[in-house]
Amino acid sequence: MKIFAGNSNQQLAENICQYLNLHLGKASVRRFADQEIFVEIQENVRGEDVFIVQSTSYPANDNLMELLIMIDAARRSSARRITAVLPYFGYARQDRKPGPRSPISAKLVANLITEAGADRVLTMDLHAGQIQGFFDIPTDNLFAMPTLARDIKERYEKGSMMVVSPDVGGVVRARALAKRLDALLAIVDKRRDRPGESEVMNIIGDVSGKDCLLIDDIVDSGGTLCNAADAMLANGANSVTAYITHGVLSGGAAARIGASKLRELVITDSIRATPEVQATHNIRVIETASLIGEAINRTSAEKSVSSLFD
Ligand code: R5P
Repeated sequence: MKIFAGNSNQQLAENICQYLNLHLGKASVRRFADQEIFVEIQENVRGEDVFIVQSTSYPANDNLMELLIMIDAARRSSARRITAVLPYFGYARQDRKPGPRSPISAKLVANLITEAGADRVLTMDLHAGQIQGFFDIPTDNLFAMPTLARDIKERYEKGSMMVVSPDVGGVVRARALAKRLDALLAIVDKRRDRPGESEVMNIIGDVSGKDCLLIDDIVDSGGTLCNAADAMLANGANSVTAYITHGVLSGGAAARIGASKLRELVITDSIRATPEVQATHNIRVIETASLIGEAINRTSAEKSVSSLFD
């Protein structure tokens, strides 16, 4: 097998290669003066099982285009099989029509990846599991939850923990984590009773005296988390920590988290942490190279990846 990476998360690709005891494939991914992307794969891939690691994170469109062009380059270089490895699949939040005359961009992006020439997709914690079905090629959706749960178990006492879903939409994910940790579950229910009135955060469950663990797939502006943390502390929670797979952290999110009452925000390295994120005192990044590396290893060896979900 051969592993290549675009510019979105070279460090993660290097770590995956280190796990697999491979060198990262040589490829040049650069820009012409007008910002057109030019890719050159600089080693033979004829007949190879090729994996291209690229998160479609900020700048989402450039990173997506790099991925598409890298897939095309590998296809035209006679790779035997091409797997697009997207630790973070951007555009996933556009998975339905929010109103009339609007697109379903997640489906469009899935089509683009397939049409470019990918034979398989490997991704992690899709915003909605059914996005898997947007691809007409085999798609494996890894779960970061076992990795997150291990980290939690090392840090929190069983009796003190309470898993919290920051919104009603995340209850299934939170319930799965609560079951895995044998912990109680609470839900933040955001409501605006009348238009123009401010949003009220109702907490379903008694969080008083508990170490609350917010679980979600994405933290973007950080607004959802910071508001939920405030509401839980106002209801007597002992502490609030957030475990989120994808640290999108746009705009001033890192500063917002830094100034918040969150004890800690734990994210994975699916998206490369910016210098601001790295410098934020209460943000910690945990690695997923071993999970993704093992999934790549098993895909290449035609072995099951489902045991990685345990
Ligand atoms: C929403 O459905 C997602 O799961 C996250 O809750 C959301 O993307 C977080 O966004 P923000 O950090 O901007 O509140």
